[in-house]
Amino acid sequence: MISKSKQRIFLSPPHMGGREFEYVKQVFESNYIAPVGEFISCFEKKVCEFTRARYALALSSGTAAIHLALKILGIGENDKVLASTFTFIGSIAPILYQGAEPIFIDSDDSWNIDPNLVEHAIKKNRPKAMVITHLYGQCARIEELMYLSKKYKVHLIEDAAESLGATYMGRHAGTFGDFGIYSFNGNKIITTGGGGMLVSNNKEWIDKARFLSTQAREDCLWYEHKEYGYNYRMSNVLAAIGVGQMEILRDRIEKKRKIFQIYFENLCDIAEFMPEIPNSRGNRWLTTIVFKDQDPFEVIRYLNEKNIESRPLWKPMHMQPVFKGTKSYLNGISEDLFKKGMCLPSGSSLEEEQILTICEYIRSCVL
Ligand SMILES: Cc1ncc(COP(=O)(O)O)c(C=O)c1O
Repeated sequence: MISKSKQRIFLSPPHMGGREFEYVKQVFESNYIAPVGEFISCFEKKVCEFTRARYALALSSGTAAIHLALKILGIGENDKVLASTFTFIGSIAPILYQGAEPIFIDSDDSWNIDPNLVEHAIKKNRPKAMVITHLYGQCARIEELMYLSKKYKVHLIEDAAESLGATYMGRHAGTFGDFGIYSFNGNKIITTGGGGMLVSNNKEWIDKARFLSTQAREDCLWYEHKEYGYNYRMSNVLAAIGVGQMEILRDRIEKKRKIFQIYFENLCDIAEFMPEIPNSRGNRWLTTIVFKDQDPFEVIRYLNEKNIESRPLWKPMHMQPVFKGTKSYLNGISEDLFKKGMCLPSGSSLEEEQILTICEYIRSCVL
């Protein structure tokens, strides 16, 4: 089926629900093709209703959202910030934008950040904040992390860029800490082509973030600035896409979970899958595996020959040349995951037959 269609299968391509174009047309009709307009507040409201976060701010990217969170929490030069090593660089770069020092923490058997290592690193370094990633759509051990955040008074920023809709004890990833962020980059569970959302239960912080995201302009007739800010606000055009995507987010989560289930049933004898921690429900943004006895890079190359995109797992931050020498608390888990694992094609428009063919290709490499 895959070879017949000759169409490339992408890892997690955009998947519109149907109303997005209609909403974008409305933006054109109103001429609010700008970083202001009704769809921006509508998108923020929809994210609040869905996640039950009290306040939300639509931004140009998830990276920008993390940056503003750090800025508002007063993280600056010489401050230390703990962060997941097993993540994407967008989670870490904002720590550097603020001139602060990232300290990398390894994963535990959940594949997400290890709270025991976090506590050890807190005692040794007295960090001001931690940025923890809920990876690939699965919740990190957020209850333990919240406990540590309160006990040691370390601010908690949840990077839920990949995990919109994931829950722990029924509560949404991104809504436990001081701030949470989501990404609407092109490959995420829903997309605006590029964008992010900052959420918090603290109104003052979100108000301040809004101010900083629009160049810190004072409320004045002319352009008056007592401090500098950023050009980080989301466009009304993109927010219109976001409003349309929010309408089908639940369906996308169910479909991603179904995709996971099909892979699991067909590959569980040759691979292990990223687990869900007890009491959580992931959005299964990407189905991710580690092989028991197979080089994943060979499989990735083979699938690519078949016109199918797959990917290695994130290369841990402490292994990246740019972070050579950065203080890290390691246990070998993320390095092992990187060496043995891969992300399977997980687009929400995949059909069962296509997934079964992908499984056959993978098995043909392994057996
Ligand atoms: C874990 C993680 N953090 C942060 C980001 C940054 O989000 P954005 O691309 O919207 O800046 C991404 C995704 O792109 C991500 O996967």
